[in-house]
Amino acid sequence: MRLFSQAQFLRAVGHSRDLPPPELPEIAFAGRSNVGKSSAINALLGRRSLARTSKTPGRTQTINFYRLGEFAHLVDLPGYGFARVSKALRAQWGELVGGYLRSRASLVGVVVVMDARHPLTPLDQQLLGWLEGHRILVLLSKSDKLSRSEQASALAHVQRSLGAVPGAPQAMLFSSETRHGVDPLRGLLEAWLSESKPASEQAAEIKMPPVKGM
Ligand code: GTP
Ligand code: MG
Repeated sequence: MRLFSQAQFLRAVGHSRDLPPPELPEIAFAGRSNVGKSSAINALLGRRSLARTSKTPGRTQTINFYRLGEFAHLVDLPGYGFARVSKALRAQWGELVGGYLRSRASLVGVVVVMDARHPLTPLDQQLLGWLEGHRILVLLSKSDKLSRSEQASALAHVQRSLGAVPGAPQAMLFSSETRHGVDPLRGLLEAWLSESKPASEQAAEIKMPPVKGM
C-alpha cells in the first residue's frame, strides 16, 4: 500500500515543547518495553531499520515521529514499565508520554502492543486504563514464538477480556519476524486514517443533491 511505503523519519522528541504541530492525523504505538513496538513499525512500513530496535529494553527513549507523505504521522513511543531505568527517567516518561497521550489533538488511535506469550499483564491493563476514550487496537506481537493453537487461544483470551461491546478494542496477532498480520494491520490503520478526515473534507465528498429549479 502506497501510504506506508513513503515513510520518512521526522523527529525525535525528548520534551513536549518540541512536538511537531498537530497538523496530520497521528497513530501511536504504545506498550511495555521490549514488546516489539519499533519492530512492528518497521514491519508495517516494509523497512528493515527505520525505527531503531534493540534486545535491550528501553531502547526508544524519545517520542519518534515518522511522516507518511502528506497524510499521517506514525509515532513510536518509548516503552514503559522497565524496572531498571532510573526514577528520573520514569518520571520523564510519565511527563512526556503521559502528557502526549492525554492532550495530543491529532491522535486518531493507539496501537497497544503486547507480547502474545503473556498479554494483559497488570502494566498492560494500566496502559489500557490511561487510554480510555481513545480508539485502540491491541497488537499481540511475537506470535512466531507461539504454536498455531497457542496463538488462537491467546487471541481468544484477549478478545474475551476486552469484551465485545461496541467500541471495545479489537485485537490482532502479529509478528515482525514472519510478517504475520502486516496486511490486516495496514488495512485497519488505513481505515482509521480515512475515518479521521477533517469534517470539511468529508462534507466535500458528499454529493449535494441538485437543487430544484436551477
Ligand atoms: P523499547 O523501545 O525498548 O520499548 O522496545 P520495543 O517495544 O520498541 O521493542 P523492539 O522493536 O526494539 O524489539 C525488542 C526485541 O524483540 C528485539 O530483539 C526484536 O528483534 C524482538 N522482536 C520484536 N518483534 C518481534 C517478533 O515479532 N518476533 C520475534 N521473534 N522477535 C521480535
Ligand atoms: Mg522501541
